[in-house]
Amino acid sequence: RTVGVVLAGGVGQRVGLEIPKQLLKIAGKPIIEHTLAVFDAAPEIDEILVLMTPGYTGEIEKIVAKGGYRKVTRVLEGGASRTETTWRAIQALSEAGDDCDVLLHDAVRPLLEPRIIADCVAALGRHRAVDVAIPSSDTIIVTARGRNGEFIRDIPERSRLRRGQTPQCFRLSTIREAYELALADPEFENSPPTDDCGVVLRYLPEVPIFVVDGSEHNMKVTHPVDVFIADKLFQLGSRAPVQPSAEAYTRALSGKTMVVFGGS
Ligand code: CTP
Repeated sequence: RTVGVVLAGGVGQRVGLEIPKQLLKIAGKPIIEHTLAVFDAAPEIDEILVLMTPGYTGEIEKIVAKGGYRKVTRVLEGGASRTETTWRAIQALSEAGDDCDVLLHDAVRPLLEPRIIADCVAALGRHRAVDVAIPSSDTIIVTARGRNGEFIRDIPERSRLRRGQTPQCFRLSTIREAYELALADPEFENSPPTDDCGVVLRYLPEVPIFVVDGSEHNMKVTHPVDVFIADKLFQLGSRAPVQPSAEAYTRALSGKTMVVFGGS
C-alpha cells in the first residue's frame, strides 16, 4: 500500500489572505485541488490522506466530491505546526496496523510532476527514507548576528547544496520510529527540524536518506509573488514530461503561444 499524504494544515500567513493559501484558486482550481489531482491520477498511489487547517475540512470534502477524487479516503484536521500535522498523519495511518509506504507532500506545491512520484515510489523499494531536492542556483550564506548587525559566518560550497522539496517519502514504521524518539526528546519542541527528513536525520542517523531529483517547477507557494509565478507556470502546461525550453518560456511570455508542449 502506498499512501499520498497531503499536508494542508497551515494558514498561509506569509501569503496573507483571509483563507488558507491552499484554497486560493490558480488556473481555475484551488491550489490543493491541483495537488490532489496529481496524486489521484498517479498509478503508484493507492490512497490519499488529507490533513487540512482546522475549520476547513468541509471545503476539502466539497472539492473531493465535486472533482471525484476517489483515492481520497480521509480528510482530517492538521496540527498547530507542520510536524504536528505529520504526526497526526502517522497516527491515523498506524491505526490500520500494517506497514505501508507514505509520500508526505506540501499541499502548496501544486506543480508536482508525475515523474517525481514515480521516482520516489521506485526509490522506496530500495530505501526506507527518500527526499526530493534540486541544486541551489543561489549562493547560500550562513550568518550570525553581532552587536552591529548581521555578518557572514560561512559560505558553504554551492555545488554540495541542494534545496529540499517534497514529497518526502518513508516506510511508515521508519518515520513513526523517528517521531516517537523525537517526541520523547525534551529538546525537540524548542528546535524542531523544518521537515520530516530532518526528523529522521536527527533521530535515526543510521538510516540513509536517498535523494531523488526534484524540479524547478515543483515550487512551494510561500509568498504573494509565488501565486503569480505558479499561475504563469500553469499557463505553460508545466506538468508535461519534458521541461520547456527557454524559447518556449519566451514565446509564452509574449502572449502568442500559451501551450507549447508536444508540438501542439
Ligand atoms: N502545514 C501543515 N500544518 C501546519 C503548518 C503547515 O500541514 N500546521 C503545511 C502547509 O499547509 C503547507 C506545507 O505544510 O502545505 C508547507 O508549509 P508552509 O508553506 O510554511 O505553509 P503555512 O504554514 O501555511 O505558511 P505560513 O508559514 O506562511 O503561515
